[in-house]
Amino acid sequence: MDRLENPVSFPDRFIVHEHDVIVVGAGGAGLRAAIEASGAGVTVGVICKSLLGKAHTVMAEGGMAAAMGHVDDRDNWEVHFADTMRGGQYLNNPIMAEHHAKESPQRVRELEGWGAVFDRTKDGKILQRNFGGHRYPRLAHVGDRTGLELIRTLQDHGIHQGMEVFMEMTVVSLLKTSGRISGVIGYDRERGRMHVWKAKAVILATGGIGKAFRITSNSWEGTGDGHSLAYHAGAELMDMEFVQFHPTGMVWPPSVRGILVTEGVRGEGGVLRNSEGKRFMFDEVPEAYRNQVATSEEEGWRYVCGDKEANRPPELLTRDHVARCINREIKAGRGSPHGGVYLDIAWIKEKIPDASGHIKRKLPSMYHQFKQLAGVDITQERMEVGPTTHYVMGGVAVDGTTQQSCVPGLFAAGEVTAGLHGANRLGGNSLSDLIVFGKLAGEHAAKFAKANKAVEVDAAEVNATTAEIEKAFDRPNGENPFAIQSDLQNAMQDLVGIVRTHNEMELALTKISEFKRRYHKVGITGHREYNPGWHTAIDLHCMLTVSESITRCAMERKESRGAQFREDFPQKSAECGTFNLLTKKSADGSMQVVRRPIVPMPAHLQAIIDRMK
Ligand code: FUM
Repeated sequence: MDRLENPVSFPDRFIVHEHDVIVVGAGGAGLRAAIEASGAGVTVGVICKSLLGKAHTVMAEGGMAAAMGHVDDRDNWEVHFADTMRGGQYLNNPIMAEHHAKESPQRVRELEGWGAVFDRTKDGKILQRNFGGHRYPRLAHVGDRTGLELIRTLQDHGIHQGMEVFMEMTVVSLLKTSGRISGVIGYDRERGRMHVWKAKAVILATGGIGKAFRITSNSWEGTGDGHSLAYHAGAELMDMEFVQFHPTGMVWPPSVRGILVTEGVRGEGGVLRNSEGKRFMFDEVPEAYRNQVATSEEEGWRYVCGDKEANRPPELLTRDHVARCINREIKAGRGSPHGGVYLDIAWIKEKIPDASGHIKRKLPSMYHQFKQLAGVDITQERMEVGPTTHYVMGGVAVDGTTQQSCVPGLFAAGEVTAGLHGANRLGGNSLSDLIVFGKLAGEHAAKFAKANKAVEVDAAEVNATTAEIEKAFDRPNGENPFAIQSDLQNAMQDLVGIVRTHNEMELALTKISEFKRRYHKVGITGHREYNPGWHTAIDLHCMLTVSESITRCAMERKESRGAQFREDFPQKSAECGTFNLLTKKSADGSMQVVRRPIVPMPAHLQAIIDRMK
């Protein structure tokens, strides 16, 4: 094996760094992992694709789910656990769901101790709001800017722990030696220089895949990098068919289509109506929620106001269901002028004094977002909203007690990881996931780094990876990366979206093969310094990998469950409820999808679920 040394072997081409633990991604999970690992006394480097502080975490606006029982003292970790399992339609890893439900309150208090300024109840406790699928008001929040406050807090706290931050850098491959992680290789987006980070352990915390679809709440970074890095390094991906379409994104004007409209609007009393003015969410309530959903508008409103006897409004059903109902209304021709439905919070002026001030206080970002981007005053007018690709439940398969993947030294946390959410994530369970499992990943990666000596980086692997990503410069007249990206996004949106069929997904697979063929001929003009064409060509590799995985898994799961709705298999199948789907790379480089039995439910957890039913 060739040794990689700095500056001896590659003085001109590589900048080499060395840490015990490298964290790829600086959203909530990455920062929390980095804090934990640095606190354990190992050296930590954090690589982020964008600037520090800019992460999809900020799009979890409405709050962090934690059963603190501040607003309704009937809440506790058992109810949160049962809600999470039911929301995920029992494909979740129950061990992770138990750990998450038990730990979240402590993690909220820790954030508060580090300076997060949560909204308060009248008696000074952390205030909690209603969200879809949560039985009681459970989301600790900061207006509608909770994710932003979390990132600010973690950044402030983390930076003082001595972690080294590498901004605007993209990791293109994980490095392995003798089957174990030895580091990562990437480049800085500004200058185009190659970097190698040697590390004993790597934590992936890269977030999601939203940019594989045309309409998404994700910004440009959400291209499935960590999913793809892990897959190509031999890790398994799990549950990739489950892509969450958040029910409410902006639909107008076109330049902002997909931007998130927080579920907090519905949590504060916002209602959904079609073009006929009907509250269509009353039309269809899933069996599992029937005894908890209001049967009249008045009862739903009483629930929002904190009446413990009342049932929740149907707008607070789980996201998979609400998104499908909106889709149904639009397809049936009962949509709004720009292809959405109406979300109305202004109506609460009939109910409370100073509704306008209340809305501005509770939902300040939404107020400004609509006012500035769409010219709509949400305190007086209805919003137009429609589903937007927001989150992927699928990701790297990990041991739920350590967050380690099947590749020794490779850990993952947050959205890039599978297991906690099963077939559908409840709103607000993302922020708690990031913090709870970021901490766990940091702890175990640090332990791994302490217990194992560094393995040498293989220079041949480094050279081969570099040559691969530089090839596009040799084809200035090659395929246009932006055109391939746009064609891929259209195919995924139109053929593997909210409603799926075998025939459409087969067509999507054929198209993905064609996009791959075009990708291998992709060409770049210009030089290495801030070259968006080059960045997109590199991102494409990841987007193609995750798109293929999503499509293959969605075809293999011949049922409708959670976020996956198959028009050709509209029912849930008992058999399909017994397995998760794994995506693996086979020896010949092709993608394989295999079934793995779900993690068995321990008796003490089954007893909780039975009791809650
Ligand atoms: O609607 C929202 O505020 C999003 C929250 C989440 O995805 O957890």
